Amino acid sequence: MTSDTTTAARIPKTELRTALDKVAAGAGSAQFLMAGIVKLLHEQLRNYNWVGFYMLEHGANPPMLALGPFQGAMTPHTRIPLDQGICGAAAASGATVVVDDVNADPRYLACSLETKSEIVVPVFVDGKVVGELDIDSHAAAAFGEEDRKLCEHAAALVGSWLERHS
Ligand code: SME
Repeated sequence: MTSDTTTAARIPKTELRTALDKVAAGAGSAQFLMAGIVKLLHEQLRNYNWVGFYMLEHGANPPMLALGPFQGAMTPHTRIPLDQGICGAAAASGATVVVDDVNADPRYLACSLETKSEIVVPVFVDGKVVGELDIDSHAAAAFGEEDRKLCEHAAALVGSWLERHS
């Protein structure tokens, strides 16, 4: 049997939730957990071309999102205020934001010219937003209901880990 170490086997989408739970069960730190989640989603889902976390900086006034673990091309947006971008909108509202066509959304901060759609899911600790999971796709309208549920589950794993370790 040959093995290709550069290409992970693709896990059926229905089993990704369990795979994410396994990453969370073995995580020794929030950074390790976030890194494991972005790696898994980026490797396993063809349309998830950039996957990363932004976390609110402790004590920043005004509040500021700072880039955390990510997979994909480097982004110019390493710090985002809450009044900017789709990322800022999701953190400020505490609601998942799905944008089917980023070029039609005036809030969009461009990361890659190839990006066509985006989903941003807040991470909550004790009901308060502490950060978010941001995913960009080169495909338009890449994020449907199943994606939203999966991404919300991934973000909730981080919130739950932080609640248990604070
Ligand atoms: N597009 C985001 C900025 C972050 S990059 O996509 C990685 C936004 O509009 O907030």
